[in-house]
Amino acid sequence: MIEDLKILKEEFEKEISSVNSMNELNEIRVKYLGKKSKVQEFSSHMKDLSIDEKKECGRLMNEFKVHVENMISDLKIELEKKLLEEKLEKEKIDVTLPATKIRVGGIHPITKVINEIEDLFISMGYDVLDGPEVESDLYNFEMLNLPKGHPARDTQDSFYITEDTLLRTQTSPIQVRTMLANMEKTPIRVICPGKTYRKDNDDATHSHQFHQIEGLVVDENISMSDLKGTLEIFAKKMFGEKREIRFRPSHFPFTEPSIEVDVTCANCNGKGCNICKNTGWIEILGAGMVHPNVLNMCGYDSNKYTGFAFGVGPERIAMLKYGISDIRNFYTNDLRFLKEFDRIEKEDL
Ligand code: DAH
Repeated sequence: MIEDLKILKEEFEKEISSVNSMNELNEIRVKYLGKKSKVQEFSSHMKDLSIDEKKECGRLMNEFKVHVENMISDLKIELEKKLLEEKLEKEKIDVTLPATKIRVGGIHPITKVINEIEDLFISMGYDVLDGPEVESDLYNFEMLNLPKGHPARDTQDSFYITEDTLLRTQTSPIQVRTMLANMEKTPIRVICPGKTYRKDNDDATHSHQFHQIEGLVVDENISMSDLKGTLEIFAKKMFGEKREIRFRPSHFPFTEPSIEVDVTCANCNGKGCNICKNTGWIEILGAGMVHPNVLNMCGYDSNKYTGFAFGVGPERIAMLKYGISDIRNFYTNDLRFLKEFDRIEKEDL
């Protein structure tokens, strides 16, 4: 039996030396210390031994058990340490790695142009006003000197909702709203950006929904030269210091006289190129002196007050400023197009 114990110890040492996992270690524990282990089997044969042999065998068996227990618990600590190290290695985070890039949106070119125009006019003491997109025929047309049946209504093919309401075809009705709301009839200096709608077929230069910025100044002694000075500052801010403007006679029912405003072509400096159709000039907006009928209808005495008004299309300004040839680009949300403005935005900063 003493011999058997020796062999068992050798077997155990051989086996434990190749243990690599907790599972294997548990198997060995059961095999050498469990109820059906060889040591248990030996103890059941002890009764057949002499007293001296019993003593010696008992001592050796205890020694073996303590030895097995110590080896197993040492190895358990070692394995646990190894497992922890493996886990830490696997879960290691390299804090020096570059972070995943999160794409943030940029400012839409139309919003950018509107913001720029707002900033300019705010710096000149203007207020920025808003108005409803669903507008009454009265404000959109009639009080702007466009009575029912007026031929100029046909140029603004409208989305009517009822007989008397429509999606506004222009931001000009905010002129009416502003003058009517100003009970004391004090001077007015406002710009009004917003969406406008017309029943146009979409193509490279038309969109059924687009933007306008209305400008209105009403006070005593406002003249055409005030309008010219203001629009000169505007053109230089949007297209560069070297730009000049010119007025061409035009017609709008709500202004008299009415003009269209051209700016010298930024591409060729006024020499003539394909962008300005070799004229050196590009049309940027419509304007004029507020028609006395409009002033009177809105409660301003046209003998005392005069005013100027203008209407700018941010799409047109953005197309000229950034060399965009198709208005539909603004509304189709192609990221390749919009990303270009991310870049312009950052360069501007
Ligand atoms: N509302 C005009 C349009 O849609 C643009 C315009 C022209 C506005 C002249 C004005 C103006 O205030 O004075 O065509």
